[in-house]
Amino acid sequence: MWVLAAPVPAVPLLAAGRAAAEEVPNPVPGIVKPLPAEWFVPRGTNAETRWDAFRDADGGAVVGRHVPVERFFVRNHTSTPLIDPDTWRLRLFGSALRGAPTAERPVEFGLDDLRALPATRISALIECAGNGRSYYAAQQNQPVPGTPWTLGGVGSASWRGVRLAEVLRAAGLTGAAVDVLPTGLDPDYVAGGTNYGPVRRPLPIAKALDDVLLAYEMNGEPLTPDHGAPARLVVPGWVGIASIKWVGGIEVADHPLYSPWNTDFYRMFGPDYPPGGGDPLTHQVVKSAFELAAGARLAADREHRLHGRSWSGRAAVRRVEVSTDGGRTWRRAELRDEPRADGWTRWSFDWRPGRPGRYELRARATDRRGGTQPERAVFNREGYLFDAVVAHPVTVV
Ligand code: MTE
Repeated sequence: MWVLAAPVPAVPLLAAGRAAAEEVPNPVPGIVKPLPAEWFVPRGTNAETRWDAFRDADGGAVVGRHVPVERFFVRNHTSTPLIDPDTWRLRLFGSALRGAPTAERPVEFGLDDLRALPATRISALIECAGNGRSYYAAQQNQPVPGTPWTLGGVGSASWRGVRLAEVLRAAGLTGAAVDVLPTGLDPDYVAGGTNYGPVRRPLPIAKALDDVLLAYEMNGEPLTPDHGAPARLVVPGWVGIASIKWVGGIEVADHPLYSPWNTDFYRMFGPDYPPGGGDPLTHQVVKSAFELAAGARLAADREHRLHGRSWSGRAAVRRVEVSTDGGRTWRRAELRDEPRADGWTRWSFDWRPGRPGRYELRARATDRRGGTQPERAVFNREGYLFDAVVAHPVTVV
C-alpha cells in the first residue's frame, strides 16, 4: 500500500495561478474558478462569498447547509497550483515515525493509496481567522492591516477523505509524536521583502488524532484546484489556516514544531495579550450573518422574513436574537436547524418595518458552551477573530 521511497523529483505542478478561460478576466488571477460579481467580492489574492449569494432575488434559499463549491470563498496566500493527481504523492517523515524517515526518504502515499484506506465523511466549516476583520475599523475605529473581510470568509461543506490519524498510523506513528507539520504545494509566500517559504502550520498531535480529515472530496466531488486538490486537511472548529490545502508533505516530530504560521502569524498581539503574543490560534469564535446584501432595500409596511446563519468553532449555536433598532431591543429568531456542532444554525426572523428610513439590523448568537457575541471585540493588532455583533445596514423605502 505504501513504500519507503527513494527521493522523487519535485512536485508535479502542471501550472500555477492560471485564470479560468472565460471572456471576462478573472478578478483574482491566482484563482482558477470563475468569480462572478454576484457571488464574490475579490480581495487581493482571495475571493469573499457575498452573503446575498445565499438567496435568489425573491429571497428563496439557493444555498442549503453546504455551500456549493462554485460559491465557496477562497483564501490563498499566493495562487492556486494545478497538481497532477496521478503523480502527486503525500510524503511523511520525521522523528516520531517508526525508523524516523527523512524528508529525502519519506513514507509515501499516492491518491489511490489514500482511497484504499477507510473513508470518512464529515460536515465542517472552513473559516478564515480574519473573517469580519473590516469591522475592527468600521465599528470600533481600530484599523488593522490584512484582508478586509466582511463576513464572507466562511463556508460549510461536506468533506470525504481519510482520517489523518489513519494516515499517520499507516505511516508508522509512534507514541513519541508531539506535533505534525503539513506543508502546502502552493508557491512560497513572500511579503514585505521576506520569503516565508511554503504555507505550513504545525498541528498538535492530539488534534491531529482527534477529528482531522485528509479530504479528497468536497460536496461529493473530487476537490477542485482552488480548494486544495488533490488533497487538503480539514480541521473542524479551528481557524482556516490549520486546514492546509494542496498538502504535499507532513513532518511528524517528537518535539514542538514552528513555522511563521504559528509564530509570526495567527497569534494575538496587542495591549490585551501577553507581551510576546498569545498562543497560536485554535478555535473559531461565535458569529452571525444575515443572508442579505449590506444596504439592502426593503419595502415599508410589509412583512419580511429575514434569514441568517450563526456558527461557533466550539459548540452548536442554540440561541439567536435579532435587533432591528440598533441594539435597543432584541427578539428571539426562529431556529431552522437542529443545532449541531459540525455546522451553522440557520434561522429566520419576521420583521415589518414601519417608517421608511435607514435601519441597522443586528444578530447575536449563543452557543451550547455559553459563548456569545459581545458588543465589542477585543482588539488585536492583526484583526483576527472578530466576534462582536455586526451592524447590518438596510434601507426601508
Ligand atoms: N493552504 C495552503 N497551502 N495555502 C493557503 O494559502 N490558506 C488557508 C487554508 N489553507 C491556505 C491553505 C486559509 S487562511 C484558509 S481560511 C483556508 O485554507 C481557506 O480554504 P478555501 O480556500 O478552500 O476556502
